[in-house]
Amino acid sequence: MRTAALPPVLLCLLSQVYARDVHANLTSKRGLAYQYDSHEGDNELLISDDSPISWYYTWSMWPAEPIGHSVMFVPMVHGLDDATGDELHERLDALPRSSTHLLTFNEPDGETHTGGSSVSPEDAAEAYIEHIVPLRDAEDRRWVISHPVVTGSPQGLDWLRDFNESCYDISDDGCPTDFVAVHWYGEAEGLRNWLEELRDFYSELAPEARFWVTELALPQGSEEETLAMLNQSTAYLDGEDDVEAYAWFGAFRTSDANDWTGDGVSFFDEDGGLTDVGSEYLGGEDNGFETGQSGDNSDESAGSLVSASACALLIQMVLLAAVVL
Ligand SMILES: *[C@@H]1O[C@H](CO)[C@@H](O)[C@H](O)[C@H]1NC(C)=O
Ligand SMILES: *[C@@H]1O[C@H](CO)[C@@H](O)[C@H](O)[C@H]1NC(C)=O
Ligand SMILES: *[C@@H]1O[C@H](CO)[C@@H](O)[C@H](O)[C@H]1NC(C)=O
Repeated sequence: MRTAALPPVLLCLLSQVYARDVHANLTSKRGLAYQYDSHEGDNELLISDDSPISWYYTWSMWPAEPIGHSVMFVPMVHGLDDATGDELHERLDALPRSSTHLLTFNEPDGETHTGGSSVSPEDAAEAYIEHIVPLRDAEDRRWVISHPVVTGSPQGLDWLRDFNESCYDISDDGCPTDFVAVHWYGEAEGLRNWLEELRDFYSELAPEARFWVTELALPQGSEEETLAMLNQSTAYLDGEDDVEAYAWFGAFRTSDANDWTGDGVSFFDEDGGLTDVGSEYLGGEDNGFETGQSGDNSDESAGSLVSASACALLIQMVLLAAVVL
């Protein structure tokens, strides 16, 4: 036991001391862009044992109570208020170590009434350097950080260009980023092109950065078009090595969908049955998720708690063994 257990323990310790590991510990790329859903059955299905969902975010620094930390929670500093607020450190410190990645500024090039944070590139650069970059370099907890996530549009790219310039105006190091968050609404072909544009933009700024598509859907598509887009985009994203994660915008019932995307993006119908889209996103019938299926409203079982690190457990076991032997 001693000889078998020690090397992994050393590896654990070494990796914790030395590595700046920016890769997410995810079992699948698939995640949830999660608006609050108060229906227990829906939430149960989303995080049930066979669900491929391995992470989620809420456009905020607050985890959602129904999902908790059963899958990795990724906090987001939504806008300037979050970045400059007194609670930033307190909020982030309150999250378990399973939360490693931090999203910043939601659609700063977009208006607040559509969920954007409407921040100028100059203000964003200043706040990013002052408040976000130090989170990446902190001694006690190093967050893996992302640049602001712009709308999937030429306006978004212009914003990023200006942001980058502003960053270099303030600091010779510019604004470092460990991963790149991406939004895309449209056809699968357009997603491909948008990702190419971003790869090109980041090729020198952050050549190692992986991509996280944190909003993805086809707005106003017919049922068939929406399913085709889902199939094509997930197959494409699953196949790209530099794409680490993605989240379809649809983790809600048709009745909670917004007018702009339309109902077709939703995972659940108004009664909580899985739509074709929802079933497909959870791996389809082959994976045990049929169209029309709904979660039973039994007491919520939030799955296994994954926040306790395997390392800590291993170290404890060895310490115990050392005491016993
Ligand atoms: C970022 O700004 C720097 C400094 O102006 C510039 O050299 C670099 O080309 C810019 N990068 C991009 C991708 O715009
Ligand atoms: C999407 O893929 C599933 C199988 O993974 C298939 O059953 C379905 O017909 C596909 N739908 C479209 C519209 O391509
Ligand atoms: C990675 O995630 C798994 C659960 O999905 C967890 O058991 C393990 O402790 C995590 N590893 C690290 C290094 O956090």
